[in-house]
Amino acid sequence: MNYIRLKKNNLLVDNISASSLVKKYKTPFYCYSYSQLKKNFYDFVTAFKSIKPIVCFSVKSNPNIALLRELKKMGSGADVVSIGELLKAIKAGINTKKIVFSGVGKTEEEIRKAIEKNILLINIESESEAIQINKISKKMSKITSVGVRLNPNVVGKTNKKISTGSKDDKFGLNFNDCINLCKKINKMKNLKLDGLSVHIGSQITNIKPFKQVLVIINKIIKKSKINFKFIDLGGGMGISYANNEKKLDLNQYAKLVKKFLKKKKSQIIFEPGRSIVGNTSALISKIIYIKKSNKKNLVILDAGMNDLIRPALYKAHHKIIPLKKNNKQILRNIEFVGPICESSDKFLNQKNFSKIYEGDFVAITDVGAYGMSLASNYNTRPKVAEVMVSGSKHKLIKKRQSLESLVNS
Ligand code: LLP
Repeated sequence: MNYIRLKKNNLLVDNISASSLVKKYKTPFYCYSYSQLKKNFYDFVTAFKSIKPIVCFSVKSNPNIALLRELKKMGSGADVVSIGELLKAIKAGINTKKIVFSGVGKTEEEIRKAIEKNILLINIESESEAIQINKISKKMSKITSVGVRLNPNVVGKTNKKISTGSKDDKFGLNFNDCINLCKKINKMKNLKLDGLSVHIGSQITNIKPFKQVLVIINKIIKKSKINFKFIDLGGGMGISYANNEKKLDLNQYAKLVKKFLKKKKSQIIFEPGRSIVGNTSALISKIIYIKKSNKKNLVILDAGMNDLIRPALYKAHHKIIPLKKNNKQILRNIEFVGPICESSDKFLNQKNFSKIYEGDFVAITDVGAYGMSLASNYNTRPKVAEVMVSGSKHKLIKKRQSLESLVNS
């Protein structure tokens, strides 16, 4: 069951009708379902229960601190890629021994902070970075736990812009370089090689690439003869955005990993983002105008590409549903667009849609991952509010940015 759904033609978020929320909060706003968040996290944990992974929620997918606090309560760790995300995860109460730090370009300041906070692993992506972390660790009289990120040259059959595991991508090290760097790290006095990490991309719905990655990791282990304490398999588990799109089968993935772990003592780490938060949120927006243009009905929303850039940036599909569905009448040939001065500020084309009018409200669905986290102030528009619904209660978890703060800077 989905907690953001139409019931008797009314959009419900948990037990509250979205129509009642638009009376309390100014649109556009992101509206989250706490029940969906909890369900997703526990479904993930349950699917992998036979291997008991450390689940490090990928903060970049949604860095709202209230949400991070809830995930922390459920037992989540964090995958971070900047000093900001690191400090935020710690502020949310996440145990530093459940934090991993990834990214190709960690600065000295970021490395220093990660060492100071004694996090679980810094995942290294180049020899220069290893030398740098060793040097800083020495200065700080510390021995730092690190992982090496492998680029397995596996393409995840996803949007090119969010694929990271092919040899042409900037991430990680290829098979031979990875083994060589592991050997070098083993000789560096202030580093402790604890992990091997990999992340081949995002929104991967097919199990095959994950299977291929496990085969390659096995080869690395055999060839290097290193028993990694942690194998960090990253995130990337795809969800269903369109009616005909299947999400990744987590149970199938769990079976593969269980088989992979036979006769190994390694602990698995996962860094899921989208699969935990993707379907927990809808962007609630008001229809400002409807205008006819070249046989199309342009439905102009008060939400724009600065609030949700995924359709413009990746041609991503997000279903749009009216807060009140009209079953009897339809509007044809619709294009939902935003108010931003760019032609790419479009959300969706629909052949048929429930009859809607200026002043009505709609929900752009499945925007919990990389929705708010990619929002910007383009066109000097304040970042919108975030609201969390839990059962029959709702609360503001992030205020809309004030106009003054934007106008004055
Ligand atoms: N670990 C690493 C090292 C990553 O780079 C990412 C995502 C994740 C974990 C989490 O992946 P997930 O489970 O969410 O697929 N902005 C794009 C997605 C970019 C993903 C970046 N890395 C989008 O809106 O689709």
